[in-house]
Amino acid sequence: MIRACIFDLDGVIVDTARYHFLAWSRLAGELGIPFTERDNERLKGVSRMRSLEILLSLGKNKTYSDSEIEALAARKNEWFVEYIDRMDRSEIFPGVEKLIADLKHRGILVGLASSSKNAPQVIQSLGIADEFDVVVDGGMVKHAKPDPEIFLLAASLLKISSHDCVVFEDAAAGIDAAIAAGMKSVGIGSSELLGHANIVVSRTGDFDPEELKKL
Ligand code: BG6
Ligand code: MG
Repeated sequence: MIRACIFDLDGVIVDTARYHFLAWSRLAGELGIPFTERDNERLKGVSRMRSLEILLSLGKNKTYSDSEIEALAARKNEWFVEYIDRMDRSEIFPGVEKLIADLKHRGILVGLASSSKNAPQVIQSLGIADEFDVVVDGGMVKHAKPDPEIFLLAASLLKISSHDCVVFEDAAAGIDAAIAAGMKSVGIGSSELLGHANIVVSRTGDFDPEELKKL
């Protein structure tokens, strides 16, 4: 029986996945690295440093020192933070707040598990920080998705067995992490990319909580 729903943030609650993409594209442009939306799928859900590693690998020839890599990650993050500083509640995806309210009404716990170290600031800007029974962000774990650590930590803080949790994710790496944690999953986006999830819906707000009974 599902007793907790654990939400990813970027691309599930709000379109910050777009802002990550814009900031990474800008960095790739400055470095002369070709970078498409398709390439960006591989950066979704993983940590900032792993994302940068993947992006730099697309450039093939050039190598970077550790301090250059740190500086590049910091630069991307400055651009990303400029976007999120301007965000407000109107950017929450349609139907998300209603879905969270409906889940709570059914007595289901609601958690947030995001690889982003900016997650606490994002949910604060959106005014939804108090909606979650637990919040786990990228700064609280050692291993980012597809490792299950972040979801296992969320479940343990909620005091719910991982088998009774369902994860909402827009990233293939996030669905991999949910499966590795022994949890059910709902993919948000295309079934071509997220076909390994139990259920796939185009938008988070399209999910019908009645479906939880089938999981
Ligand atoms: C994930 C995003 O939620 O957080 C990734 O899907 C991002 O694209 C990662 O790289 C890390 O985010 P941040 O804010 O810590 O750089
Ligand atoms: Mg995401």
